[in-house]
Amino acid sequence: MKAPIPINGSTWWIGVNDRETDLFESIWPLPRGVSYNSYLLADEKVAVVDTVKSSAFDAYLAKIRRVLGPERTVDYVVINHMEPDHSGSLRLLREVFPHAQLVGSKKTIEFLGHLYGITDNTRIVGHGDELDLGDSGGHTLRFALTPMVHWPETMMTYDTAHQILFSGDAFGGFGALDGGIFDDEVDVDYFDDEILRYFSNIVGKYCPMVQRALAKLQGTPIKVVAPTHGPVWRADPGRILGAYDRWSRYEADDGVVLAYASMYGNTTSMMESVAKGLLDAGFPTVRVHDASRTHVSYIVRDAWRYKGIILGSPTYDTGLFPPMANLVNLLAEKKLKGRILGVFGSYGWSGGGVKALTEFAAQGDYNLLEPVVEARFAPTPTDIEACRLLGRTMAERIRAASA
Ligand code: FEO
Repeated sequence: MKAPIPINGSTWWIGVNDRETDLFESIWPLPRGVSYNSYLLADEKVAVVDTVKSSAFDAYLAKIRRVLGPERTVDYVVINHMEPDHSGSLRLLREVFPHAQLVGSKKTIEFLGHLYGITDNTRIVGHGDELDLGDSGGHTLRFALTPMVHWPETMMTYDTAHQILFSGDAFGGFGALDGGIFDDEVDVDYFDDEILRYFSNIVGKYCPMVQRALAKLQGTPIKVVAPTHGPVWRADPGRILGAYDRWSRYEADDGVVLAYASMYGNTTSMMESVAKGLLDAGFPTVRVHDASRTHVSYIVRDAWRYKGIILGSPTYDTGLFPPMANLVNLLAEKKLKGRILGVFGSYGWSGGGVKALTEFAAQGDYNLLEPVVEARFAPTPTDIEACRLLGRTMAERIRAASA
């Protein structure tokens, strides 16, 4: 996708795909890549909304030149979000277009100085402020301050005449754009997993702020949702708005994520019995993850998706096995709540793993199931039966919660 892609006669997507970065924020794997979406509005004045990672600057500038030609300049760069996947090209863009005014919230302008040493020709905008780009394209931009979606400086930009919401990180997702950029051009079902993995791991901690942002948008007619990552939603913007609304209310589907770790196979045997218990109860929607081998972001994604979470861990030294500790720490950090939780595990010469899981349950907003199952070394037939009961109980509780 080397060429700019028109959204309408005077608005273009000028983003880039990144299929080379392995880890987003040096934490989150990108097996399907990611897009950095930027937009150009050419009216009597020219505005760019958000930029791209600095490593893609040459391709990015070429797209701007394809729209504007060699002479025309950029008048405004609207900064919805300062994280470097979107602000990384600002300094280079300023070198090419030295008179471009940088537009953002008060905090954005503060961050500009600290991140890039840019302090001149900036404009602070507040909630509801407007920027008129002229009459030929009819673009008037209205700004909505939406702090903590995903940083404190974050805002959204709404094109009032064309009813396009440039939403920043909100309504975005992982996954490079394979050919098309619009929801009616790509297989959106394929993107669902990566959009939820993005939401749960990047934005999920700030669900109350997502709800506040959605409330601010209430009553605003939105024809197109144009986020900084993932598809541009022009055919069914309600799909992504509804998904973010549901996820940020912690609503979930009927199903269970069964995450376990095992050093010698004993906790694995227990996990298989819990899974069998779920199946005995006629409950097939189970996603099993080995926490030692599956990146934690995928487990957090499924924990956000499903009503039930079951965690199984061996004891390591006198506490939780480190990959499981990593998972529960991240779940606590992301403040996921309202889930039904089951725990089990094993120990050898000292207990501690299962105790740590019950403490995790007590510290969060979880509904801990009985039985809590703990085996010493190899699980006995009684332990195995208790694991099956745990699986059956989880199935029954989810059904009861959905009735
Ligand atoms: Fe896509 Fe918070 O940056």
